[in-house]
Amino acid sequence: MPDKSHQKRILVIHGPNLNMLGKREPDIYGHESLVEIDARLKEKGKKLAIEVETFQSNHEGALVDKIQQAAGIVHGMVINPAAYTHTSVAIRDALAMLDIPIIEIHLSNINQRESFRHTSMIADLVAARIAGFGSNGYMLALEGLAKMI
Ligand code: DQA
Repeated sequence: MPDKSHQKRILVIHGPNLNMLGKREPDIYGHESLVEIDARLKEKGKKLAIEVETFQSNHEGALVDKIQQAAGIVHGMVINPAAYTHTSVAIRDALAMLDIPIIEIHLSNINQRESFRHTSMIADLVAARIAGFGSNGYMLALEGLAKMI
């Protein structure tokens, strides 16, 4: 566990295709870009006196590498594994090694969508899940996580 006496750090991880937010199926995912969401997260982090790092990748291995590197460095994690939510044992196994609270977030309400989106490989590992609030879900996740760490 990281030293709790210093400023708390949170890592926000975005999975594949989330770099296309704003352009990608805006009726489902909204009009805000990932750059805008990340800026809002960092701003909110400042208000909460928490250092917020954000990371996006379209590659499963890069996401696994980032999760591994976070061990012992961050106090909490917010993750939207996007499509890998439903498929990735590798991301699940990486998250299972962490001893910090993890919040799963989805812009859309995955349970109201196609049945393959109803399965989350990480549901039982996370402290909480937020889905269906669009990009505001990230802010809710950060606020909730700030109270847990
Ligand atoms: C998503 C839902 C996933 O099913 C989908 O593959 C995504 C985004 C969401 O945020 O609603 O890419 O995680």
